[in-house]
Amino acid sequence: MSVFGSLWLSASTREAREPDAGDAARAPRLAGQENPRMADSRFRERYGPMAVVTGAALGIGRGFARRIAARGLDLLLADKEVDTLEETAEALRKQHDIDVVTVGADLSTVEGVERVASEALAHEVGLLVNNAGVGHTGWFTEIPLEDHLVEIDLNIRATLVLTHRLGRDMLERGRGGIIFVASNSSEHGSPSVANYAATKAYIRMLGEALFAELEEHGIDSLALSPGLTRTRSISRSVGDELARKLGAMEPEDVAEEGLRALGKRPALIAGSRNRLHAILTRDFMPRASALRRTMRRMQKTGLGKPARPREP
Ligand SMILES: NC(=O)c1ccc[n+]([C@@H]2O[C@H](COP(=O)([O-])OP(=O)(O)OC[C@H]3O[C@@H](n4cnc5c(N)ncnc54)[C@H](OP(=O)(O)O)[C@@H]3O)[C@@H](O)[C@H]2O)c1
Repeated sequence: MSVFGSLWLSASTREAREPDAGDAARAPRLAGQENPRMADSRFRERYGPMAVVTGAALGIGRGFARRIAARGLDLLLADKEVDTLEETAEALRKQHDIDVVTVGADLSTVEGVERVASEALAHEVGLLVNNAGVGHTGWFTEIPLEDHLVEIDLNIRATLVLTHRLGRDMLERGRGGIIFVASNSSEHGSPSVANYAATKAYIRMLGEALFAELEEHGIDSLALSPGLTRTRSISRSVGDELARKLGAMEPEDVAEEGLRALGKRPALIAGSRNRLHAILTRDFMPRASALRRTMRRMQKTGLGKPARPREP
């Protein structure tokens, strides 16, 4: 099932895509900027030798895996799509000459989370990216309760358990980093993805709080909130054309922004356009208007169907 960010960013559908930190990462270096080799070496010292990324076969998780591999860290990648995960891992091994361990696991289950945690604890993990997440769209009471509970199990429970288990290890070593992939739908309530957005608010709050708790122990924490991002689930649900018109970001650009912000701030909304829309709607618009506008936009794109609860 798919996951969704806030659709506020759709205000200008004909606007050209703005440059973001991901573009900057690939742009030629300007005078006065840190040598990329030095930056990568500092990254490895602080977060190496191995990073764990959940939901890494595709989408934003694969974007993280690629950008971390480019910095020279070994990887432990976890996902329930075992074949695709292995393809992603093999491509990274060949391209970057790094070790990549794969763990096939359904992280919405107790057993799946335990498998990933035990495998990770057998290595020296300096970076954890809590990325795997799921979101169901529609009227809250129309979505089966089991689907809501899977959102809690994957988005919240798996994140909590992995952070607790691997965080303790990092604490003993006195260094590391943890990225919590939230969503900008959690900046305020998000009708049509009500429970999903609420789980992402939990993740954002956890990530922000740990920024202050862990920094004096040498561990960086970042809550990263992507807006609409052109992942497979989004392409399937809204289509590539509409995703582009809505200003969807590329997964690797979202990941690059997150990696660059780690250790510098507690939270980041990915993409300058998403940041602007979040500020305008969260801080300047009456909350009731913001909520109604979000609902209309979700329905307009088809993400928020059904528009009204069905008759009993
Ligand atoms: N894409 C967006 O617009 C967007 C916006 C805001 C926030 N986010 C957040 O960003 C994160 C990544 O989103 P995405 O769109 O890149 O994800 P995605 O494309 O839907 O999924 C990425 C990978 O995670 C796997 N996965 C799903 N459920 C899993 C489970 N229970 N255990 C293990 N792996 C599982 C998926 O497998 P399957 O394909 O088999 O499900 C897929 O391989 C999520 O936390 C999401 O909430 C996304």
